[in-house]
Amino acid sequence: MKNLKTPVLIAPSLMAANMLCLKNEVQAIEAAGADWLHLDIMDGHFVPNLTFGPDIIRQLRTVCSLPFDVHLMVEPVELCIDLYHKAGADHITIHAEAIRDLRHYLDVIKKLGCKAGVSINPGTSVDAILSVLDLVDLVLIMSVNPGFYGQSFIPSSLDKIVTLAEARKERNLNFYICVDGGVNPGNAPGLISAGADVLVAGNSVFKQPDYSVAIQKLKHS
Ligand code: DX5
Ligand code: ZN
Repeated sequence: MKNLKTPVLIAPSLMAANMLCLKNEVQAIEAAGADWLHLDIMDGHFVPNLTFGPDIIRQLRTVCSLPFDVHLMVEPVELCIDLYHKAGADHITIHAEAIRDLRHYLDVIKKLGCKAGVSINPGTSVDAILSVLDLVDLVLIMSVNPGFYGQSFIPSSLDKIVTLAEARKERNLNFYICVDGGVNPGNAPGLISAGADVLVAGNSVFKQPDYSVAIQKLKHS
């Protein structure tokens, strides 16, 4: 059974921040009580959008001490791993859909000293990652089709969280279950009780007037 005393972690997604003042945004989100900073890297190929790259991350690293949770929506992803590690990533998450030798590259991430994450899109079954659960530090369940913030939560994602939480318990493993896309104070309680440990949130934090209130609403709604 999940330890009820462990509070859920909130990872605001910088993609939804005001791009004209990123330094202020990351400092404000750290002061507001964010646990991790979620950084969505998009390549216009694996997903139909572009965001930011390693140089921005390197500069943000100098003004923010939150763990940098880098979500690579990039194909091919192999060559990017070292680049984002050097830029200051603490966690590097790769997509099961974007890579053949998932196990090998998760190991590469760990050997660099980063936490290794695996993500699956809404159309991908949890079965695709069962064989690497022993190796990962986090699993990122995409609850929207990746590419844009502000989309609606896909309800079938809840079952994936339950399946993962069961697998984790049965196999006595230890990884964070993270959920990304359309998370809001209305669906957060259900996600937490299903087994989510980390809520990634773009719209529900960076598009709200008070970041601290927004984070608390997600934690305690
Ligand atoms: C979507 C990204 C998400 C996104 C979340 O492809 O991976 O991290 O920014 O934004 P919201 O919470 O607005 O869906
Ligand atoms: Zn993301």
